[in-house]
Amino acid sequence: MVEEFLMLNPGPVPISKNVRDEMARTLVSHRSPEFAETYQKFRDGLDYVFCNSTLDGTRSAKNGMSIPLMGTATMGMEAAITNLAGPRDEVVALDNGKFGERFVDIANRNCLVKPIRANWGDSFDMELIKETITPNTRVVAMVHQDTSTGIMNPIKEVGQIAKENGAFFVVDGVSCIGGDEFKIDEWNVDVVVADAQKALAAPPGISAIFATDNAIDAFDNTNAGYYQDLPAYVKTTKQNKTPFTSAVTLVRAFVVALENIRKEKIQNRISRHRLQAQANRLAFAEMDLSMFPRIDDYSNYSNTVTVVSLPDPISSNSSDFFKSIKQRNVTASGGHAHLKDLILRMSNMGDLSPEQVLRGIRTIGEALNDCGIETDIDSALDIAEKTL
Ligand SMILES: Cc1ncc(COP(=O)(O)O)c(C=O)c1O
Repeated sequence: MVEEFLMLNPGPVPISKNVRDEMARTLVSHRSPEFAETYQKFRDGLDYVFCNSTLDGTRSAKNGMSIPLMGTATMGMEAAITNLAGPRDEVVALDNGKFGERFVDIANRNCLVKPIRANWGDSFDMELIKETITPNTRVVAMVHQDTSTGIMNPIKEVGQIAKENGAFFVVDGVSCIGGDEFKIDEWNVDVVVADAQKALAAPPGISAIFATDNAIDAFDNTNAGYYQDLPAYVKTTKQNKTPFTSAVTLVRAFVVALENIRKEKIQNRISRHRLQAQANRLAFAEMDLSMFPRIDDYSNYSNTVTVVSLPDPISSNSSDFFKSIKQRNVTASGGHAHLKDLILRMSNMGDLSPEQVLRGIRTIGEALNDCGIETDIDSALDIAEKTL
């Protein structure tokens, strides 16, 4: 019997049945009172997640607002940069993975970019960060947990450096929000970007940012794309609508996903994600797979996506390995660009049950065995089960 399809690639992630069902409901107009009511719930749900993602339950932002965007997270990344910095403004963008590289590319098209680079998966050189960010820096942009490498970057430390230099701090929290801690004020974050399709477990297509009052006061649409006019989004969000046509169906589904999170309680959800990531790490170590990110005193492993190096001979051509995974009706991902065959990326984002995490581990063990790499699957599952 073929087991149910299970997506363990790092986004989009599986969505719960009540979220799927919500998308089948009869459409309403995006300018109707019914939709305005839904939109208010959307904003409340986003506020709940953005402002309460702390393990001890303390509120993480004393001011600011959630701003839904009718595009994916890349829209949020670009909107944040272009509404805070103009063509003559310096943006320091940190790149140690695909999504950090995206911040560099966005800043390069629109502003004066000063990249800080490390090899993908490596930790940043903190001294270099201290030297590069100066009082001339308008914006510092950084990814919290880079889905392409599974590293957790030192947001708190970099936020402090940005603050000391009077720079705005824009953070890609895409693989974190809804699955791990995020302390907006304590980390001196001005804008954080979240995506529907990651740990928030909503369908892909829309996203949201949370911006502090400090950032909102500074938003200037002069150099922003017409569709990324954040002052317009701020104004219409307060009226429970969007500047242009709303993605009604996706918004409704997102609201249900956020209600699911509220029912679970964000603190429980964060703890669950941490345990599930730990289970994956321990199980993979038991299979002799080594973690790909090279962490230091400031960085860590992501709690939402686990990335390991693939052993030889899979690392010369990983297609049979990923085919074996797919034959078991599971998806997991290889690497981007030069990392294509070199790594395995496995998500634990969203609403996964312990059984689904264990199935992922078993699947990887079986796929390794199919490729001639002996692994003790039972022992890996045993360690994972004890952790969950
Ligand atoms: C960390 C991170 N940032 C940004 C993005 C971009 O998201 P999207 O493709 O939905 O715009 C992704 C997508 O995988 C991501 O993982």
